[in-house]
Parts: sequence; C-alpha cells; structure tokens
Amino acid sequence: MSRKWWKEAVVYQIYPRSFCDSNGDGVGDIQGIISKLDYLKELGVDVVWLSPVYQSPNDDNGYDISDYRDIMDEFGTMADWEEMLAEMHKRGIKLIMDLVVNHSSDEHAWFVESRKSKDNPYRDYYIWRPGKDGKEPNNWEAAFSGPAWNYDETTDEYYLHLFAKKQPDLNWENPKVREEVYDMMKFWLDKGIDGFRMDVINFISKVDGLPDAPNPEGKKYVSGHQYFMNGPRIHEFLHEMNKEVLSQYDVMTVGEMPGVNPEEGKMYTADEREELNMVFQFEHVDLDTQPGKNKWHLKPLDLRDLKRSLGKWQVELEDAGWNSLYWNNHDQPRIVSRFGDDKEYREISAKMLATCLHMMKGTPYIYQGEEFGMTNVRFESIDQYKDIETLNMYNERVHEYGDDPEDIMTSIYTKGRDNARTPVQWDESEYAGFTTGTPWIEVNPNYKEINAKAAVADTNSIFHYYRKLIQLRKENEVMVYGKFEMLMDEHPEVFAYTRTLGNEKLLVVTNFSGNTPMFEWESKGERSNKEVLISNYEVNLEEEISSFQLKPWEARVYKLV
Ligand code: NOJ
Repeated sequence: MSRKWWKEAVVYQIYPRSFCDSNGDGVGDIQGIISKLDYLKELGVDVVWLSPVYQSPNDDNGYDISDYRDIMDEFGTMADWEEMLAEMHKRGIKLIMDLVVNHSSDEHAWFVESRKSKDNPYRDYYIWRPGKDGKEPNNWEAAFSGPAWNYDETTDEYYLHLFAKKQPDLNWENPKVREEVYDMMKFWLDKGIDGFRMDVINFISKVDGLPDAPNPEGKKYVSGHQYFMNGPRIHEFLHEMNKEVLSQYDVMTVGEMPGVNPEEGKMYTADEREELNMVFQFEHVDLDTQPGKNKWHLKPLDLRDLKRSLGKWQVELEDAGWNSLYWNNHDQPRIVSRFGDDKEYREISAKMLATCLHMMKGTPYIYQGEEFGMTNVRFESIDQYKDIETLNMYNERVHEYGDDPEDIMTSIYTKGRDNARTPVQWDESEYAGFTTGTPWIEVNPNYKEINAKAAVADTNSIFHYYRKLIQLRKENEVMVYGKFEMLMDEHPEVFAYTRTLGNEKLLVVTNFSGNTPMFEWESKGERSNKEVLISNYEVNLEEEISSFQLKPWEARVYKLV
C-alpha cells in the first residue's frame, strides 16, 4: 500500500454561505473564512474543501456556476481568495476546490450562446434534443423534481438538466468541453490549490440515445439513473483528465459519486488506473431511506445494515483504492441528530460517532459545525426553508399530488439539506456570531448552548475530542494504514472492529444506542500491553477487553501491542 499525504490527512469542509460573514450582509464570505483559520489550525485539520465560491446566480447556492474563473461577488474578490489561500498555506493547511462540471449555470456564457441557435459554435456544449410527440425527449425526472428537460422556444428544442432548470448538463462527448474543463482546472491548480472535490462526477457520461427509463407504474417522470450513473465513457474521461491535468500536480481528488458500489469504487481509485484518489459513496447515507424510493421516504436505520455497508467498503478497498469517510456534508442532515441522540446524550453520542468514523481506514471529512455537535433544525414554516431541493419537492407534493404537508415537514426535519446549512454557531451573541446583519437563513435557536466558543473553552467538549482524534492520526500509523476487521457483525447495537499494522492493533468499540449491551471478543493472541487511546467515558483499565458492558453511546479505543 503506497503512502500518500492525502491518506494521512483530515479534511474540513466549508460551506461558505453559512460559515462566517465579515461584512454584515448576512452571507458568509472569504474574509470571514480568513478570520477563522486560526480556529481550524487549533482543531488541527490538514485540508479545507471549499464548496463553490465561483460566480453564480445561486439557484443552488453556487453549484450553478456562471463563471468558473471568477469569485462570487457576495463572497469577495479574487484578491480575497488569493489572500485566503496564502493564509491557509502559511498555517500548513491545504485547499481543495469544488469542481462542478456535470453542469453549469444557464447564465454561463457558454449556455447563453448555446441556446441562441442550432448552429451556434457552443450548441454542442450542452445536450439538446427535439421533443417527442410534443413532450420531453424522454421520461427522466430531475433530481430536484419535475422533468429533466426544459423546453426552449428560441430553437424549439429541449436541453437536459439532471438537477435544476438553471443547471444545464454539459456535453462531455464534445472534446471541446473537456478541453475547456481541463484548462479551467489548470487555471486553479496554477494558482496553487491542492486538489478538487468533484461534484456528481460519475454522471458526466450518458448512455447513447438517452432512452426512456422503464416506468411500470406509469408515472409522469421516473429516475433515469441507470443511463448516466457510472456511464459508458466515465473511466475513459477520468483517465483522460488525469493524464491531461492531475498527473502534472501533487494534488488530491475526491469524486462525489451517488450510486457507486465498492467494486466500481475500487476502479475509480486504484493507483494504477490513474483516475481519482477517492470517492464519496452514498450507500451508508441511503440506509435510512425506504429501498427503491427517494430520500424523503423515511425508514429507521438498522445498525447491521450500516456495518455491512461500511465494512464492505473497508474490505473491498483494502489492497487497492482508498476510502473517504464522512457522516456529514452540506447535503446531509446533522449526524448527531441522525444516528446519535441530539438530546440527553448529544455530547457523548457525537463523540462516539466521531470515533467510529475516524478509526476506520480512509480519509476522514469533517463538516463545519460537526466538530462541536451542531444539530438538525426544525423551522415552523416552509417559508423559512431556502433549499431548492426541499422547496421544489414540497411544492410538487403539496400542490400537485395533494400530499399532507405535515408528513412532508417530518421528512424535511429528518432529511432536508437546510439542516446542514444553518449558520455556523460561533458564540452566544445575536445570530450566533455568524453575522452582524440578518442571516440569509435563520440560525438554529439552540446556539446559546451549542456554539464553538463554549466548546473551545471546555476541554471535555466534542471539539477537543475531535482535536484529539486528529492528533492521534498523526501519532499512530495503524490508524491510517492498518488493516480493518469487523467484530460482532450481527449485533444490532455494537459497532466494533480492529485495525492491525505490524504488531500493533487497535480495538475500536462503539455503542450506537442508549442501552448497555455487552461487548464480547475472542482475542487472538496474548497482548502484553494495552492502553486506552481515546474514550468518551472514563475507562477502568482493570476491565478485561474480552468482555465488558458498554454505557449508553459509549466509545473506547484500545491500543494493543
Ligand atoms: C451535489 C452537491 O453536493 C449538491 O449540493 C448539488 O445540489 C448537486 N450536486 C448539484 O450540483
């Protein structure tokens, strides 16, 4: 297994709109980020992944880009961005930028040209088709509700948008598009960035002919996933990108890939295939969704499913490829509210979840606010929500299908993306210290109790626990490179495993419940030395490691030599 800096790193994601506002306009910005770099340094993270800061009309908060080479006015200027990069590098923190090239904004100059006429030189930058029997070219549904096609009067054709109407899909079959993307990547890499997170990058190759998806229930629009997820030319495109661009820099890449399985994940990330370094897979965050349904159809998590899924990824990528490890990002609900207990055991369960994740093999990602246990939010009214995915779904379900708004609000409280997008709670002052103006989205009312300032001041806090986990990674190679082995596979509450490197072994035991189950282990081989690396309760060292009773949401990690 080759050693790489990005295997040893911990990444922190910043969603700039909600991170920190320096000028009182209610929107986070780049100077706000600069003002918090010492905080990130104290936490100890090695890399920042910055969600998009490019010019954008903000239909999808920057994931709809109108100029890939310029900074969004609300966030600052290119000079601010360059200052930020220099300040990060000064502190030994690397920067990876978001690369959103499955689609652009409809306000991008390429699309403005493309829609003008069928013979415009930019026409083939996007995916245009004539209608079929007066309707869309096929029956695919967009990720943000409604059809995946939009009719454009000027040329009497439809363009494809797998996400919002204002996010037309780029045509990767066109070599000119690929060249433009590679040039743009070099533009940022030559400014000194350290890599990319690639938005839905396994969607860029679509099946020829864009066929209708099977529709046994006769719905208006259905998911066309099988025709663009891990499509026919995806490996070819990524390999080309690697050859043309990535291989010329010492950078890290992580591809966001809904619908990727471990076998595919290995193909995307094995060194010798020269594609990407790691992928964000979705299996573990789909386990609280009813099978075959979209994310709003809730189902309680069965811990055995989570262990099976994460365990499979661990084993499959053991000898080739590399895992990313995440609970949270700007699209997912807050983990302590999701798989933990955000009431009585908020601190304890947040630490347990962190332990379980960071001790597995892979590069861990921390999402802003996770490091001090921010929770989901419950806004009274749909009008307080801002996310296009949430709002489109609500409108379609309530106004087109006549569904019960209360049921839908329950789904939104559980799964809505705005759970992750309320402003970072920096302190107990008005608007949680995020802004001096009016925040673009309301602050979670629990900010007086849950905020970064309080967490930094308390050495027993979640923040200091994350700090310790990050520190331990630097001191224990076994945490990075050790082989993973699952224990107690079928236990419904205990998630336990070992990591082994040479004669060192980590024993990681976590309890995903408020109960007090027994941990049982038939340890192979005598151990002359055991120490507790980290735990969220005091551990009695006299206790036998082969069998002990866990406290609610307990986590403990032994190092055995
Ligand atoms: C995935 C991003 O993480 C999400 O926020 C965005 O809405 C879609 N891709 C479309 O870009």
